[in-house]
Amino acid sequence: MNFKLTEEHEMIRKMVRDFAEKDVAPTAAERDEEERFDRSIFNKMADLGLTGIPWPEEYGGIGSDYLAYVIAVEELSRVCASTGVTLSAHLSLASWPIFKFGTEEQKKHYLRALAQGEMLGAFGLSEAGAGSDVSSMKTKAVRKEDHYVLNGSKVWITNGGVADLYIIFAITEPGQGTRGMSAFIVEPGWEGFSVGKKEKKLGIRSSPTTELIFEDVKVPASNLLGKEGEGFKIAMMTLDGGRNGIAAQAVGIAQGAMDAAIDYAKGREQFGKTILANQGVSFKIADMATGIEASRLLTYQAAWLESEGLSYGKESAMSKLFAGDTAMKVTVEAVQVFGGYGYTKDYPVERFMRDAKITQIYEGTQEIQRLVIGRMVSK
Ligand code: CAA
Ligand code: FAD
Repeated sequence: MNFKLTEEHEMIRKMVRDFAEKDVAPTAAERDEEERFDRSIFNKMADLGLTGIPWPEEYGGIGSDYLAYVIAVEELSRVCASTGVTLSAHLSLASWPIFKFGTEEQKKHYLRALAQGEMLGAFGLSEAGAGSDVSSMKTKAVRKEDHYVLNGSKVWITNGGVADLYIIFAITEPGQGTRGMSAFIVEPGWEGFSVGKKEKKLGIRSSPTTELIFEDVKVPASNLLGKEGEGFKIAMMTLDGGRNGIAAQAVGIAQGAMDAAIDYAKGREQFGKTILANQGVSFKIADMATGIEASRLLTYQAAWLESEGLSYGKESAMSKLFAGDTAMKVTVEAVQVFGGYGYTKDYPVERFMRDAKITQIYEGTQEIQRLVIGRMVSK
């Protein structure tokens, strides 16, 4: 067993950390405050090859692996969790299913454009009445000659309104339950596609989350992803990997919060010594560091398994569950270390705390991760 990262992984970490500190961190608080998505950050990620990290060069990627990808999401989230999820949704939710289930034509056309950052991707599964229970989806796609007619709506879509491509799930065979669902590649410029309400959120406020509305949208039959009826399986398999991207986001948020807490505790003096000199504070830091390290190991393990072509669904659900809960605990404690100052926008820890909460909710709530893990371990 070898826990040492390769030179390539170390190089990618350094490159992303430099980029994150120079080009992402300086505006993170302001973008959060203004709820502003900045496409130029995504474009710079594309210039660095981050938008296509694991895909082969023939599809516009840089031919690296899933471990490099989670390292990138971690490093971005260490300074800005919104930027972390922009990449995670683009890569593991929009690009992965095309890589895995797309026809050669879909890969050459769409995957290449996503990998090179010419297109930004999003994933539309959730609906107002179908969040945890995906099987109660209502959006429908009816086949007519050479196209499908799509009607319905999606909610909570990350990169909504700014994406150039959406993976949309819809019922093609009513009454067939999870076997009657199909996946489609949908472009936002098509007639009948519109973006609805933009959510005002607690955290990840510079990542837009919107409703999507489909009114008789004509989707070419060539944009069916996989086979008719395979949609639920495609969604579940996509989420198997996507959840590890959220674990990486959680590790990054927690690391950013702990780094800030250590710096502050070293400098802040009360009772004639630094607050870090109190065991009550240094024990908090020790617990943070231990939780982060365990989360990182689970996350890297799941990414390594996927890169090796081994089974990773259970490990990915575990990494998301553990890292999400760790990020929440660590960020709450980081605010505590800062005392009253932590409760203000003068320091980044309140933003980290608000951002951490989403990692317990999306890509399957923590309760759903337990359901998935419980089913898998007791099989
Ligand atoms: N891989 C392959 N097939 C799978 C699978 C997987 N991981 N999980 C289930 N399936 C198959 C099952 O084998 C079963 O197949 P058969 O019909 O052949 O028997 C079929 O799918 C139905 O499976 P279940 O009976 O397990 O389905 P269920 O209705 O009980 O639902 C669930 C399972 C895990 C709860 C699922 O509904 C779920 O994952 N819910 C959470 C939704 C979620 O995570 N949404 C995230 C949206 S994206 C997001 O949030 C984006 C973001 O953060 C940026
Ligand atoms: P519900 O399913 O109504 O759950 C409410 C509560 O009940 C939760 O605590 C849940 O854990 C619990 N619960 C439900 N069922 C069970 C059960 N069987 N056992 C125990 N507890 C249960 N979706 C997309 O498709 N694409 C995206 O890009 C996307 N991005 C998102 C971004 C943000 C900021 C947010 C908030 C959500 C996003 N989502 C996205 C949707 C997200 O995946 C759902 O919000 C999530 O899956 C939960 O669904 P729900 O909100 O309908 O909650």
